[in-house]
Amino acid sequence: MSSPVRRASAEEPEAVERRAFDVAEVRRDFPILQQQVHGKPLTYLDNAATSQKPRSVIDAITRYYRTDNANIHRGIHTLAERATVAYEEARVAVQRFLNAREAREIVFVRGTTEAINLVAHAYARPLLRPGDEIVVSILEHHSNFVPWKMACEATGARLRVVPMTDDGTLRLDEYERLLFDRTRLVAIGHVSNALGTVNPVADIVRLAHARGIPVLIDGAQAVAHMAVDVRALGCDFYAFSGHKVFGPTGIGVLYGKADLMERMPPWQGGGDMISSVTLDEVRYNTLPAKFEAGTPDIAGAVGLAAAIEYLGGLDRAAAAAHETALTRYAEKRLGEFSDVTVFGRAREKAGIVSFVMSCAHPHDIGTVLDGEGVAIRTGHHCCQPLMHRLGVAATARASFAFYNTHEDVDRLVDGLARVREMFA
Ligand code: ALA
Repeated sequence: MSSPVRRASAEEPEAVERRAFDVAEVRRDFPILQQQVHGKPLTYLDNAATSQKPRSVIDAITRYYRTDNANIHRGIHTLAERATVAYEEARVAVQRFLNAREAREIVFVRGTTEAINLVAHAYARPLLRPGDEIVVSILEHHSNFVPWKMACEATGARLRVVPMTDDGTLRLDEYERLLFDRTRLVAIGHVSNALGTVNPVADIVRLAHARGIPVLIDGAQAVAHMAVDVRALGCDFYAFSGHKVFGPTGIGVLYGKADLMERMPPWQGGGDMISSVTLDEVRYNTLPAKFEAGTPDIAGAVGLAAAIEYLGGLDRAAAAAHETALTRYAEKRLGEFSDVTVFGRAREKAGIVSFVMSCAHPHDIGTVLDGEGVAIRTGHHCCQPLMHRLGVAATARASFAFYNTHEDVDRLVDGLARVREMFA
């Protein structure tokens, strides 16, 4: 498979902003956006929960099932061969997408959650002893918090949490203070799903590596917004989900450095992860099969490769500039409401605006907006420690993708005016 993804260039941000991004054209690639909900044009602002799929992804999955479907790595017939090739080509597409050194460093999993659980079980648990520590941040999604909490509870290790400033910026000084010779792993999100903060992950990796500590980055919210280069970041593990990056649900990726993953035991047993089995002894397969027990989501991998190819056809820097413009516009328009509080004002943000209204609960906001055809997420966003830090139980969250428009923001704002009419 050809390398479909253009790397982020070192262009001046102003030059990128001046370049037009043709939103109307990309919207035509997403059939789901061309519909009405409750008699209103759909305004989809729940992209952090899951992104919509371009026609090429839908077609690739359909084509796979119509012409190539078979199990992989097992059969010698033509369909089995085709399915195996498609699956392994998808792995190479992901390798190039992340700029990983080798395809065997790419493990297909169900999603970010499974990727992090894999590392927690196969890397952290065998290593952790009482007195050891794992470092996460207050911004983490439960999927990058609970697996570590469970690993600590099972081993007697301690979970340390990097705090943030009131605007949602990670306290790098506090992070550095937490690192010591019993820190066994740092696990930090690239982009906060609740506030949109972009964390300085290259610095986070550098500071940890200076003390010999490996780093896992939860990239679930990053890959849709920016080009990710795991070799430039230097991280040891990187996890993301296909469905957040315009691919299907049920497929995700764990990138891990080969030397680390070679030393890790398998975490699930079954077909494909073995090289030989006798009644007395099981020998494990090499990477990446060692971590892919059972029949994987082959169609999901095919769909993910199609999503990566689709992204490769976009001007990603211009798309990111467009998303930033939407985010700033949304923050400005929400500023017109005296009863709206926006959370998360970090300098580096990606496509997310989280807010509360004093007159209405976030769930009421979500319900009224749905009636106006506007889809947002409301609740704790699987970030209850962060919600406690903010002093709220829930927020309303609008999250953007490159196919959103300034009119989408205007519809959100019109919907909020309706909320105020009903509840204030
Ligand atoms: N993690 C997803 C979100 O933030 C589900 O909505």
